[in-house]
Amino acid sequence: MGMMVSPQYGGGGMDTISYVLAMEEISKVDASTSVVMSVNNSLVCWGLETFGNEEQKQKYLVPLAKGEKIGAFCLSEPEAGSDATSQSTTAIDMGDHYLLNGTKNWITNGSTASTYLVIAQTDVAKGHKGINALIIEKGMPGFTIGNKENKLGIRGSDTHSLMFTDVKVPKENRIGEDGFGFKFAMKTLGGGRIGIASQALGIASGAYELALAYSKQRKAFGKEISQHQAIQFKLADMATQIEAARLLCFKAAWLKDQHVDYTLAGSQAKLFASKVAMDTTIEAVQIHGGYGFVKEFHVERLMRDAKITQIYEGTSEVQKIVIARQILMA
Ligand code: CAA
Repeated sequence: MGMMVSPQYGGGGMDTISYVLAMEEISKVDASTSVVMSVNNSLVCWGLETFGNEEQKQKYLVPLAKGEKIGAFCLSEPEAGSDATSQSTTAIDMGDHYLLNGTKNWITNGSTASTYLVIAQTDVAKGHKGINALIIEKGMPGFTIGNKENKLGIRGSDTHSLMFTDVKVPKENRIGEDGFGFKFAMKTLGGGRIGIASQALGIASGAYELALAYSKQRKAFGKEISQHQAIQFKLADMATQIEAARLLCFKAAWLKDQHVDYTLAGSQAKLFASKVAMDTTIEAVQIHGGYGFVKEFHVERLMRDAKITQIYEGTSEVQKIVIARQILMA
């Protein structure tokens, strides 16, 4: 849960390449577990370790990195998913505290988390420069958790809306300088996208491994279906796409480990790997035929889980915006 956090703060002290490897392996089996891991590691722990002050790290990061507590990252709203600057949740400056009001939607770890990083607007006139990131604790008066969402995939991870009504948040719970909240969210999501790209990679490789094994067992027209060219072409495409996705994930992770800007590489990895996850899982179900469509077999679950990788931590369309801006800026 804190594998990239420094041992000084209770983490595993590993690099981003190791994180990609772990995310792929866990996502092959259970993408619900890997999203909990991804949000905790790359959004919450990384955000706190990189931008939090020493007190915040001791109080909030250490238990998150040790896996004693779980974190949630709260940016999306009913009217602000892709358009992240349009925050309607407000954090009004009251001198020694902020008064937090508003609703957040589709929050991963919504009910299991204890520590919530909430993005909110303090000064509308300043646009994105008036946004702050605040640390909220479960149990703060005025903070309530809505019903669990009934989702298509990653059904083992709890996703909730969160409601804040006059929640008093001490000033010391703000991350960074006043107005740093939007940049905090963007920088944090940049690394988060490597985590979700690796999740997508794992979903794809899990589905591919199952389809490969099944194709060697199942017989049709007198031989294993893997001996039919129609299946071989599918397997060849899957293996090639997965390898390309893996290399994009490694590239983004390596750049991050070298402290070189990884915004472009992270978005390219997420855009590509999430499409590979979708395409590969559909083909894996196809190779399984009727067995692929029933719940006893793992592939239908992987196909349902794949879809969210094209939506959360920035839709595929958002990744294209980020990629195009990076290309045009160069
Ligand atoms: N790093 C640092 N700063 C960045 C940045 C980055 N990657 N991207 C933007 N910024 C800065 C810009 O430089 C700009 O600052 P200045 O004015 O000082 O130059 C400021 O942020 C505003 O940038 P833009 O004008 O580019 O902002 P925009 O409104 O056009 O938005 C966007 C760009 C890429 C579409 C962005 O809104 C975005 O990424 N949206 C998607 C949000 C998202 O990923 N949501 C997912 C929710 S979290 C989640 O899913 C977690 C979970 O539970 C799994």
